[in-house]
Amino acid sequence: MTPHVIEPDPQAGAAVKAADRAHVFHSWSAQGLIDPLAVAGAEGSYFWDYDGNRYLDFSSGLVYTNIGYQHPRVVAAIQEQAAKLTTFAPAFAVDVRSEAARLIAERTPGDLDKIFFTNGGAEAVENAVRMARLHTGRTKVLSAYRSYHGATSTAINLTGDPRRWASDSGTAGVVRFWAPFLYRSPFYATTEAEECARALQHLEDTIAFEGPATIAAIILETVPGTAGIMTPPPGYLAGVREICDRYGIVFILDEVMAGFGRTGRWFASEHFDVVPDLMTFAKGVNSGYVPLGGVAINAEIAATFDKRPFPGGLTYSGHPLACAAAVATIQVMADEKVVENAAHIGENVLGPGLRELAKRHPSVGEVRGMGVFWALDLVKNRETREPLVPYNAAGEANAPMAAFGAALKKNGLWPFINMNRTHAVPACNVTEAEAKEGLAALDAALSVADAHTV
Ligand SMILES: Cc1ncc(COP(=O)(O)O)c(C=O)c1O
Repeated sequence: MTPHVIEPDPQAGAAVKAADRAHVFHSWSAQGLIDPLAVAGAEGSYFWDYDGNRYLDFSSGLVYTNIGYQHPRVVAAIQEQAAKLTTFAPAFAVDVRSEAARLIAERTPGDLDKIFFTNGGAEAVENAVRMARLHTGRTKVLSAYRSYHGATSTAINLTGDPRRWASDSGTAGVVRFWAPFLYRSPFYATTEAEECARALQHLEDTIAFEGPATIAAIILETVPGTAGIMTPPPGYLAGVREICDRYGIVFILDEVMAGFGRTGRWFASEHFDVVPDLMTFAKGVNSGYVPLGGVAINAEIAATFDKRPFPGGLTYSGHPLACAAAVATIQVMADEKVVENAAHIGENVLGPGLRELAKRHPSVGEVRGMGVFWALDLVKNRETREPLVPYNAAGEANAPMAAFGAALKKNGLWPFINMNRTHAVPACNVTEAEAKEGLAALDAALSVADAHTV
C-alpha cells in the first residue's frame, strides 16, 4: 500500500477530543483516566491521527478489520445498498440478506446451513445458548477459563477472564472448566498428548459431577483469542465433540474472533476437522464495516424450530447495509485470496519472524499462533515462566507492559495488548512488507520488555 499523505490538523483533533471527553462514555474504562487518540482516517493496514502520526494497525481494531480499512469494493457496496434499500424489517425476505446467509452457509462446516443474524458477537452467543437450552430442555452451560464470549448478560457470565467479575451473577447456569494450554498447563502436563488427554478427562469428570442430563451446551472458542491464542492440541476438539455426542450436549464453537480468515482458513474449526452444532461469528464476516454477527445452525437444531417458534429476535437482524457489506467482504476475500494470504503470512513471515525475535529477546516466553493470529507471551524469566506482569495487573504493577506498549506506539505500531501478552493480529490481507515493518517495531520495543526480565 502506498504511503498516505497526511495533512496534520491539530486544531480539528483537539475539537474531536474535547467533544469525546465531554460526551462519549467509553467501554471498559474509568472515564476520567483515559486519553483516547483522535483518529483522522484509515486505509488498508494503517490509520493516522490529526498530528500527522501514522500507525500500522497490528490489532485490526479489536481483531476484526480482516480486510483492512476502507476497502473500496466494500465501501462501494455499502453506498450502493444505501441508495437502493437502506433498511428493512427482519420478517421479510431481502435479496442481500438471503445472499449473505447463502455465502456464509456455503463456508461454514458440515450442515451448519441456517443463519440467524445478530448485530455482533455477544448477541450471537446469547442466542446460540438460548437455542441450545430450548433444543435440549437443559439449562447449564460449560465454558472455559481463559475465554471471552462478550459483554451481555449470558455472554459475560460465560466469559472466563476478569472482565466477567464485575457482572458475574453467581454463575447463572454456567460451570467453568480448564481447557488445554500446555505452556501454562493446569494439568502439570509436559507434552501436547498429555495435556489433551488430561484436559478431556477433566471435562469428563466435570460433566459427571455436574450431571450430564443437566448440561445443555459446551461453548469453546475454537482458538481462544483475547485469552491468549492457545491453539488446542491435536485431538482435543474432536474429543469434546465425542463427549458432547455421548451425552446429548450441544457443542457451540465461538468463532467471533477466529473465524473469517484469521487463522488462515475460513473458519478455525477446519484445522481440527470438527463440526460443531452451532457456530457463532461476527467481526471478520464484514470486517465490522457495519455491525453484524450471527449463529450458524445445524439441521437438527434448526428442525427444533421448524414448527415451534424461536423465541428470540432483534429489530436489526440481517440489516441490509450490514449484509451488503458481508456479501462484498466475502467476495473480496475470495477474489483477492485473502484467506490464503493470511496462511502465507503466518507460515512464511510472522511465524518465522516472531520465533526469530524470541531467540534474541529473553522477555519472550512463548510464541504461538497461526495465520494472522499470534501471541507473544512475555515473561520475567524463561525458566520459571513467571508472567512479565501479574494476572490482571493494573497501575504500577502493570508498568512493564505499559512501557512496552508505549514503545510500540512510538515506533508506529498500534498493538493489541492483554495482560502479559502482545498479539500480532494484523489484517488478513496485510502485505509481506507491512508484516516485516511490524516485526521491526516489535523487535525495537521488546528491548524495553527485556529490561524487566530477571
Ligand atoms: C470469541 C469472542 N466471542 C464474542 C465476542 C463478543 O463480540 P462483540 O464484542 O461483537 O459483542 C468477542 C469479542 O471480542 C470474542 O472475541
